[in-house]
Amino acid sequence: PSQYRVNDLLRRMTLAEKVGQMAQIRVGKLRGDCNYANGPLTPSCEQQVLVDAHVGSILSGGGDYPVDNTAKGWAQMTNGIQHYALDNNRLKIPVLYGADGVHGDNNLVTATMFPQQIGVGATWDPALAEKMGESTSATMRATGVFWDFAPVSDISRDTRWGRYYETLSEDPQLAGALAGSLVTGLQAYDGKGATARLAATAKHFAGYSQPSNGHDRVPAQIPVRELQDVFLPAFQPQIDAGVKTAMANSGAVNGVPVHASKFMLNTELRQRMGFSGVTVSDWSDMASLVTKYHMAPDYPTAVAMSVNAGVDMAMEPSDAAGYTKALIDDVHNGLISQHRIDEAVGRILKLKFDLGLFEKPFVDENAAGGIVNGAGVDLARQAATESTVLLRNDNKTLPLSTGVHKIVVAGDSADNPAQQFGGWTVNWQGIDPNGPTPPVVTPLQGIKEALPNATVVGATDQTAVAQAADADAVVVVLGEKAGAEGTNDKENPTLTAAQQSLVDSLNATGKPVVVVLMTGRPLVLGSVSTAPTLLQAWLPGSEGGHALADILFGKANPSGKLPVSWPKTVGDLPMSYDQLPGTNGGASSGYDPLFPFGYGLSYTTFSTATPTLSAATVRADGKETVSVTVTNTGAVAGSTVVPVYVHQPVSQVLVPDKRLVGFTRVDLKPGESKTVQVEFDVSKLAVTVGDVDADGKREVEKGAYAVVVGTAQAPFTVR
Ligand code: IFM
Repeated sequence: PSQYRVNDLLRRMTLAEKVGQMAQIRVGKLRGDCNYANGPLTPSCEQQVLVDAHVGSILSGGGDYPVDNTAKGWAQMTNGIQHYALDNNRLKIPVLYGADGVHGDNNLVTATMFPQQIGVGATWDPALAEKMGESTSATMRATGVFWDFAPVSDISRDTRWGRYYETLSEDPQLAGALAGSLVTGLQAYDGKGATARLAATAKHFAGYSQPSNGHDRVPAQIPVRELQDVFLPAFQPQIDAGVKTAMANSGAVNGVPVHASKFMLNTELRQRMGFSGVTVSDWSDMASLVTKYHMAPDYPTAVAMSVNAGVDMAMEPSDAAGYTKALIDDVHNGLISQHRIDEAVGRILKLKFDLGLFEKPFVDENAAGGIVNGAGVDLARQAATESTVLLRNDNKTLPLSTGVHKIVVAGDSADNPAQQFGGWTVNWQGIDPNGPTPPVVTPLQGIKEALPNATVVGATDQTAVAQAADADAVVVVLGEKAGAEGTNDKENPTLTAAQQSLVDSLNATGKPVVVVLMTGRPLVLGSVSTAPTLLQAWLPGSEGGHALADILFGKANPSGKLPVSWPKTVGDLPMSYDQLPGTNGGASSGYDPLFPFGYGLSYTTFSTATPTLSAATVRADGKETVSVTVTNTGAVAGSTVVPVYVHQPVSQVLVPDKRLVGFTRVDLKPGESKTVQVEFDVSKLAVTVGDVDADGKREVEKGAYAVVVGTAQAPFTVR
């Protein structure tokens, strides 16, 4: 039915009205002096963008929030824009508002913030990811934001890259499963009928996370085999979950900017992977084809290149008039066909119909605060807890007793909300240390709350050692400066000398020292790599302090597992467990992490039995079900993750020693055993076949394989 309404509108729209739908402009162009000023909506500015240029979408790209940055303030702003648009638009096409809710409603200062995606990766918990998506969606929709530029399916392999923390995993199956669940949650409809639905975004399609020298947007070189077998599969579950939009990678792959690549945006994304939604550009990236890549002599040529490659809407934040004029000129000059315009506009209108925006363009300003404030707190605490990875507990220092008399809490991130949230929080680069923060419990606050009867001392680097003298234990929380694109790359992603020497001096006191890393990437640790008690807490969000205290004092048992490999040195980068075999040292030559992919300890121990399979022989398009019994062999209750890998003993093109095909989480009481099932599609074993000049054909090779769980294997044959 929506296609009927789309066709009806397309028949009635002028070219100017159509191309306006293909534009997304930042909200700053509607406010103050029409130039990003942080003021109230200005009718003359709204006129220029929404009426003169017929613009159909507005964004807040990290920041750009209303003067009253509350749920109600947001609802008033988005409703105001919608009213202006509908009152002054003869066809009554609603505006679609978008923002970067990558870990909660990012621009809203009253929203509960979840862990950044790298922490979600460490939970290995798709059901939890789905709930986080639902919660983020409810908050964004309550404020009139119906498009979320998330989740990120980029693959994390190089910790030098500043956006590493926005990724889910180095592994395409883990990243894909979690991203698919986030989409399901984000796009879920609560059935209450109060607002329109929300669209998620598969970004950044594709190959964005592999800039050749680790610096954001430096061109990537990714052989088609690796592109298809590693980078693209992480997007497939988003598409299968019905993700409504995709954002093009701002970078170039193999010498072609993705914004100008028909191969990427059409052959791969649509024809091979089955995406049928709206493709949006990244920030100003049609213009980048002229200004950065020098591929087009002028802006109209660049716009034509990009639209013809498959970009339906430009996030052209500033120049509504220039962009829409370029599109009109391109049509008149024969550079873009009417058919292509109708295709792009048709997709955008269909999105607006499918979201229900025509029926429900406004939100209830008085209800917004009630929906947003305080929502998601328990979920944020659970997510931060499940994301925490216990890397070392050599002396069984953890869990600490709640009967301690004095505990010292030291380190740069012990009481530092900015570090706890990372980028895309209130502002693009993260919170302003002197400005307001979203609701937050820091480690120091969380520990104080957990120990009402003990002396909890927040120490500086100068006082920590002296304070440790009569303490029962020391918790030292180390981080890195928060940031986002443009500022957060690191040529040497290592703990600083000062951080290492603080830990060294604290360890020298002989007191139990718990090192907590609150970072968006597994940093090279230097002397801290031998710390006897080590936790990775990632960028845990609002409830990080509660989650940490729950783990420190044993209220929660750590169950996070590394979603990435932990490098020993910067020279290991880029790093992943599934590297291909080399000739100098066998199948795992060169893979020598500090902690491997999937690693993580618990306060209890688990054993897994030999797996059994549903079929000894399967077809390439069939399914295999793995059953395995897991036992809690320790003294406390806990959860663990059961990863299921496949090993292929002989293959015609190189494959990794083992590839993850599925996983599940299981909760077990002390002594308890459960048999869990993990089903996987055999098609996950497909690889791009052929010689060095592989033409992109993917196949599951027939022959012998084995399922690997722990150290045990179960053989099967694909016929
Ligand atoms: O969605 C983001 C993208 O991830 C990076 N550039 C800006 C966009 C909008 O904020």
